[in-house]
Amino acid sequence: MGTKLYIKTYGCQMNEYDSDKTVDILKEKKGVEVTNDIKEADIILLNTCSIRDKAEAKVYSELGRLNKLKEKKPNLKIGVGGCVATQEGKNIQKRAPYVDLIYGPQTLHRVSDLLDANKSKGIKAIDITFPIEEKFDSLPEPSSGGPSSYVAIMEGCSKYCSFCVVPYTRGDEVSRKPEQIFDEVARLAEQGVSEITFIGQNVNSYKMPYGDRILRLSDLIEIVSHIDGIDRIRYTTSHPLDMTDDLIEVYQFVPQLVSQLHLPVQSGSNKILEKMKRNYTVDVFLNAVDKIKSHRPDLRVSSDFIVGFPGETSKDFNDTMDLVNEIKFDSSFSFIYSKRPGTPASKLEDKTSMDEKKERLNILQSQLNKHHKDHSENMVGSIQRCLVTGLAKKRPDQLQARTECNRVVNFDLKNIGFIGKLVDINIDEALSYSLLGTLHNPRG
Ligand code: SAH
Ligand code: F3S
Repeated sequence: MGTKLYIKTYGCQMNEYDSDKTVDILKEKKGVEVTNDIKEADIILLNTCSIRDKAEAKVYSELGRLNKLKEKKPNLKIGVGGCVATQEGKNIQKRAPYVDLIYGPQTLHRVSDLLDANKSKGIKAIDITFPIEEKFDSLPEPSSGGPSSYVAIMEGCSKYCSFCVVPYTRGDEVSRKPEQIFDEVARLAEQGVSEITFIGQNVNSYKMPYGDRILRLSDLIEIVSHIDGIDRIRYTTSHPLDMTDDLIEVYQFVPQLVSQLHLPVQSGSNKILEKMKRNYTVDVFLNAVDKIKSHRPDLRVSSDFIVGFPGETSKDFNDTMDLVNEIKFDSSFSFIYSKRPGTPASKLEDKTSMDEKKERLNILQSQLNKHHKDHSENMVGSIQRCLVTGLAKKRPDQLQARTECNRVVNFDLKNIGFIGKLVDINIDEALSYSLLGTLHNPRG
């Protein structure tokens, strides 16, 4: 029987991508098989996240549980990767000495070597450095798990928003070589992938030389739109400051680029944006959205919000609500500010009570939910171009597809040959988390 790997992933889409790559590397180098049953695992990896909450404490309590498994199975290898690993580093060795390997988001490609070092020398292998280019160079052959795939185009972040740990846990921003990106997209397209999502912490600050040109995100989008089989292009996450005119213009002439944009605004108050070191005003955000809408009137915008940032008054919060009502954001994320160790904002005085913050989050979330529901209901009766992603989760007689705004649409199964294809669907009904539709006419 082969070595069994159990990997638990917390946090953002970068972590999901990193976990997929870790699995691919360990399959290639160690012939591991992935298991969903933790009890039968020979290697357990936690790919951790430290963006909010008491992330460190949660990891230590999870490790405590894993130690019980290790007591029964001494050959079990336990590894901690991801952002908590970078942040805690050697502390993990001290507090959880049974952990065998500690690696960061930028050293996951060395996991196999770390396992070897641990085995042959019996050492606790630890590597939480930031060799980002080496990571990109040693990623395994891309493999698709369906018609839609992530493609990392950059790593890390150099924006240093005052509340955020990412620049410290993932390192400064590094863009990936264009050749590697084009190669990966082409290989995925050959495997039948028709939708790609460029991912990174801040994809719209992408910048890399290519021949005698400097390529930006707009160029990557334009170039991959010519790769055969690529019908849809998304990107996430982007920063309002980097919504440059070239990127806005690309909406005009690349139809594969979806009319959906995730653009985290965080707050609708200029005073709070300044304290957050976001380096833009609400007007800059509105202006970028307006300009894209001049090319794509049907653009849907989703966002991230933080409520209860230190110094946020009820007037500041009301400014956020005004912005929410003006843009009518689609599927968005909202969080109560969480003090992160080592960040500049952690030193700011914070007088707002937790009850008040929870109240603000409730008000914000119910309005965001209302807009989400309104958008879904407004789609009833329309024809939406959707990418067929597979069989419906609960009804094997139905297929599942996704709209440009990424809503799930279930429709009666006509032909599984539609999987991976774009089809037009009449939207008949809006449910809370999905839509129901009927095939209009097959495309592609
Ligand atoms: N560009 C990144 C943003 C990373 S964090 C990306 O890839 O998504 C995702 C979201 O978490 C941020 O947009 C912000 O809204 C939220 N967030 C980050 N740090 C936070 C903190 N200290 N407290 C609360 N929310 C936070
Ligand atoms: Fe974090 Fe701001 Fe970068 S939210 S990931 S420091 S853009």
